[in-house]
Amino acid sequence: MTSGNTAKPAGRVVLLPPDQENLSGFEAALAAGWSLDPRRAGDAAYNRGELQRLRQDRSRFLDDLIADGRRRTGSGPPPLTTRLFWISDGEFCGSISLRFQAGTEALPPNVSGHVGYSVVPWKQRNGHATTALALLLAVAAKEGLNRLTILCNEDNDASRRVIERNGGELFMRGPHSSDRPDQIKLYFWLKPGTAG
Ligand SMILES: CC(C)(COP(=O)(O)OP(=O)(O)OC[C@H]1O[C@@H](n2cnc3c(N)ncnc32)[C@H](O)[C@@H]1OP(=O)(O)O)[C@@H](O)C(=O)NCCC(=O)NCCS
Repeated sequence: MTSGNTAKPAGRVVLLPPDQENLSGFEAALAAGWSLDPRRAGDAAYNRGELQRLRQDRSRFLDDLIADGRRRTGSGPPPLTTRLFWISDGEFCGSISLRFQAGTEALPPNVSGHVGYSVVPWKQRNGHATTALALLLAVAAKEGLNRLTILCNEDNDASRRVIERNGGELFMRGPHSSDRPDQIKLYFWLKPGTAG
């Protein structure tokens, strides 16, 4: 990982499925205080716990990370699938995930939209999230999804720009059951398609 001073120029941004080889970039980001879940930002105890779990059993940690979204929610089908990717420019830059239920646009009430992403602070403002979302839209198209719903907090200008740069269409503002009732969110539709 390079935090602060980036020693080598950034390469092309790609999405990588997490595996044993690229887990060390994620581990270094965790150790530097970054977390997969933006809502855990600054939660040092949570990060320490995650890091400990990872270092105790790397394969198990990885299995849990990948299997996480395939857990069934509620009693009936369809199950929620999560496709988690690392954002990489040659170094670990963050994560992006696609969450969906095959055959429907609907999501369980605790899932805040089809997409979640986070870029480590030392890689931000380089267009990485914008590119990563474009690449994820191509993944969504391959999964047969016709329309995605993506949410961001109303005061999250960076995330809003990322969505708008990818053609997001604002259709609603209001709270979401996954968060506090006073946390107003912007709801966008996004069209899956080919990146580039
Ligand atoms: C939101 C986030 C993923 C953006 O990542 P990023 O790689 O820095 O985004 P990009 O470089 O692609 O920037 C996209 C746009 O946002 C703008 N932007 C980036 N950071 C910004 C900031 N802190 N304040 C205002 N605008 C910002 C960029 O200038 C760019 O605007 P432009 O298209 O008009 O030039 C990153 O800030 C982050 O991880 N935040 C914490 C987690 C989070 O909020 N996740 C989203 C949850 S919905």
